[in-house]
Amino acid sequence: MYFKSSWNTWVHFYCDINETIIRESADALVSIGLAKLGYRYVNIDDCWAEHDRDSMGYMVPKRLTFLSGIKVLADYVHGKGLKLGIYSDAGHQTCSQTMPGSLGHEQKDAETFASWGIDYLKYDNCNNDDLKPMKRYPEMTRALMRIGRPIFVSLCEWGDMHPALWADKLGNSWRTNFRHKRFMGKVRSMVSRADQNEVYAEHARPGGWNDPDMLEVGNGGMSNDEYIVHFSLWAASKAPLIIGCDVRSMTKETLAILGNEEVIAVNQGRHMRRKVRKDGDHEVWSGPLSGYRTVVILLNRSPEFRTITSQWDDIGLPLNTVVEVRDLWKHATLEKRYMNELRADVHHHACKMFLLTPLTLSDVDEPKV
Ligand code: GLA
Repeated sequence: MYFKSSWNTWVHFYCDINETIIRESADALVSIGLAKLGYRYVNIDDCWAEHDRDSMGYMVPKRLTFLSGIKVLADYVHGKGLKLGIYSDAGHQTCSQTMPGSLGHEQKDAETFASWGIDYLKYDNCNNDDLKPMKRYPEMTRALMRIGRPIFVSLCEWGDMHPALWADKLGNSWRTNFRHKRFMGKVRSMVSRADQNEVYAEHARPGGWNDPDMLEVGNGGMSNDEYIVHFSLWAASKAPLIIGCDVRSMTKETLAILGNEEVIAVNQGRHMRRKVRKDGDHEVWSGPLSGYRTVVILLNRSPEFRTITSQWDDIGLPLNTVVEVRDLWKHATLEKRYMNELRADVHHHACKMFLLTPLTLSDVDEPKV
C-alpha cells in the first residue's frame, strides 16, 4: 500500500488547534480503525507556531497551545504507528498571517522539521511578494532532499493555479483546484473540484498525486449520498484522501464512508479513473484496475432520480465481455451477470460505484510488465 492519506486540522478546526486535539485525533485514527486502512499521516495545518521566529531565526511552537513542543508530539504520534505532518509557506508569512513563512529560511526550517521527526510537509505560497511558487518551492524541496529524511511534500496552488504542470519533481502531491473554501459544502462544488482535478489526470502517478484538496465528509452541509459522491470521486481520482472532519466524534455513517475498504482499495490502484461519458447531468467515471477489472461510477448530478447506463464501449471493455458486478457501497456482489452494458437507478445527487470483473478473462493471463 502506498501511504498518501491523512487527517488534517484545517477544514474543521481552522486556527483553533492545540496539542491535545492532535494527540486525541491520533488516538482516534487508531482506535476506530482508520489508521490500518491507510490514513497514516496526522497533519497539523497553519497556526501551530508563534508569530515571530526566535533570536536565532528558528520557528517556535506556540507556547499557549503546543507547550510540549512538536518533537514530543511527533514521538507520541510515532508511538501510535502514525506519522506527523506540519505546514509552512514559501512566503514571509503563512496564509493565516499568524506565523512566519519559510522564505529565506528554507534550510533552517527543513533541518528543524527533520530534527523534530516530521514526516510530511504541506507547503503553501501566500504572502509571497509576487514570487511564483515554481521559483520558491524548489528551495524547500532541495533543502528537504539535503537533510535526507523521507518527508512527503504536499504543494498548494497559491500563486499559480496549475502545479500539476510543473510540480512533479518538487513534491508528492499538488493541488489541482482553486482556493478551498470552508464549508462550501455543496455537492456541486465538490463535483466541480473533481472535474478540475480530472483535467490533470495524465500528470498523476504513484508517488506524485493530483490533490483536489481536503475531504468535507462529516463536516455538515451535504447529505450522506452527497458525501458518498464526494468520497467516490476522490477515491477514483487516486487523490490523497485527506480527512477534514473531527475524527474524535464522527458519526457511524461518516466512518462507514471514510472507512470503506473496498473504495479505498480502488484509490490505491495505479491508473487514474476518468469521466468517460457525460449526458447532461449523468456521468460515467471509469478506469482499469489490476486483473482486467474495471471500476465504474454512475453519477447523477441532477435533483431527480435517473436511470444511468454505461456501455462497454465507454468504459473500454471488449464487446460481449460478461462481467460479475460488485456494488462497492452496498458491499454486495449482484446476482445478475452483465454483458455490453450496465444500467442502474441512481437517486438524485448520488452515485453508484461498481467493480466489474470479467468472467472470460483472468489475471493469470495478464502480462506482468
Ligand atoms: C491556504 C490553504 C489551506 C490552508 C490555509 C492555512 O488557504 O489553501 O489549505 O492550509 O492556507 O492558512
